Amino acid sequence: MVASLVLCFLASGAFSLGAFILLRKAEVKLHLLQTLERLDDRLLRVRALEDEKILSRADVDRALDGVRQADALLRSGSHALQEADRAIVPALLLQLGTCDRLLSVVRGAAEVGGRPGALSARDGAELRRAEAEGNRLLEVIIRRERSSLDGILRFAETGPLVLLGLQLVLFVGIILAFAKALVNPIRRFEGYTARIAAGDFSFITPTRRYRDEFSDLAVGVNQMLGELQAQQHRLVKGAKLAVVGTLTSGIAHELNNPLNNVAITTEALMEDLPTLSDKEKWRLLQDIYFETERASEIVKSLLDFTRQEKGEMVAVDLADVLGSTLRLAQNEMNLNNVSFTCQMPPDLPRVRGAANQLRQVFLNLLLNAIQAMPGGGRVWVSAGPQDEGKVCVEIRDEGTGIPAEVLPRIFDPFFTTKEPGQGTGLGLSVSLSIIRTFGGDMQVVSSLGRGTTVHTCLPRADEG
Ligand SMILES: Nc1ncnc2c1ncn2[C@@H]1O[C@H](COP(=O)(O)OP(=O)(O)OP(=O)(O)O)[C@@H](O)[C@H]1O
Ligand SMILES: [Mg+2]
Repeated sequence: MVASLVLCFLASGAFSLGAFILLRKAEVKLHLLQTLERLDDRLLRVRALEDEKILSRADVDRALDGVRQADALLRSGSHALQEADRAIVPALLLQLGTCDRLLSVVRGAAEVGGRPGALSARDGAELRRAEAEGNRLLEVIIRRERSSLDGILRFAETGPLVLLGLQLVLFVGIILAFAKALVNPIRRFEGYTARIAAGDFSFITPTRRYRDEFSDLAVGVNQMLGELQAQQHRLVKGAKLAVVGTLTSGIAHELNNPLNNVAITTEALMEDLPTLSDKEKWRLLQDIYFETERASEIVKSLLDFTRQEKGEMVAVDLADVLGSTLRLAQNEMNLNNVSFTCQMPPDLPRVRGAANQLRQVFLNLLLNAIQAMPGGGRVWVSAGPQDEGKVCVEIRDEGTGIPAEVLPRIFDPFFTTKEPGQGTGLGLSVSLSIIRTFGGDMQVVSSLGRGTTVHTCLPRADEG
């Protein structure tokens, strides 16, 4: 684009310069042509009057005057003539010289109204020959130069139109180039804002090497994104701690059970140790082992959940993530009289994401489902591959459902319908932002009094 504009600019510049030079040349040529035509006329007239023998002094003066003017102009401006005409200029000058010399003699001797009787017969013949040859050469030059001048004038007529066209192209090109230079970065920023609105806070890379308003804007936007990333990080962490708070009573309860069992079994073992058979001792020790295993599983799940993860996207096994999340929520379900059904194909494709953050998402969804069924009920968890390279998880409950007027707001940060102190209102907003960071999306379908289904779709790990 830029190259063709430069070319167009150079062409119109060269064209203007060429036209200027040509018109200057035409001006000189025109002046010369007028002088030559005048001389041609005067010589013809002198020849005719000579033949009639009524040549006046005034005619001789005019002829001489014409000869000298033409001579001077041909010497100074013959460069304006075409090459073929330039070649015959020396011959013409020779004839003009003869005419000048002999006409000067005639003028010196002739009386007003007299005849050129001052010349000898030989000189008179030479003058007539020089005049005739002069006329012939003049007419050749005049004919050829006139047609060359016609050509130049025709060109001068069409030239401005061509120039105007070129300048128009140049003008439109410059406007388009400006518009492109302005619109392209705006389009890019449009894309960036759409990406930011979708929850992707990764930095943008300025495409320009030099500093201008757009690269300054990119630096500013990156600062803002850095701040947003930090805020989001804090929000996710805060929401995570809130979830742990919700789980505390269930976990305490769940830890208490195995610890109690261990205490009771150990006590029995200590009291009855001498009387117990080896087989009974083995069974009691095995019970203790299983209970401690159970307790350490719960602690491990909790540690896994709260552990800080780099948040890098890797291929994640959804079956694993859903399994460990259900284990974490199990105590809460037990406490609230909720049971669950889980359905997944054995070859569930892996998704792109970070296991710990996905656990946080599914735990939020499970807790919402449990909390929507205060009198107990059932949660259905299923997962499977979908079209367009996605894997979707469906979490369905048979709880209270969500009123239509509340549904559009449930993903808003801090929106909650729960009693003060019961919910932060961050669960769904944080979950959606995590899922979008991984290139996925969430949809909620709810029917008042019948239950709610949350669909969470993520890109398959093996897709682009
Ligand atoms: N499964 C569900 N059934 C009914 N209502 C739901 C369900 N999931 C979410 N909601 C509604 O959406 C609101 C927002 O949910 P979100 O998880 O963001 O916050 P919260 O559950 O109120 O608080 P927190 O998650 O911090 O405990 C809830 O207060 C509730 O009204
Ligand atoms: Mg919640």
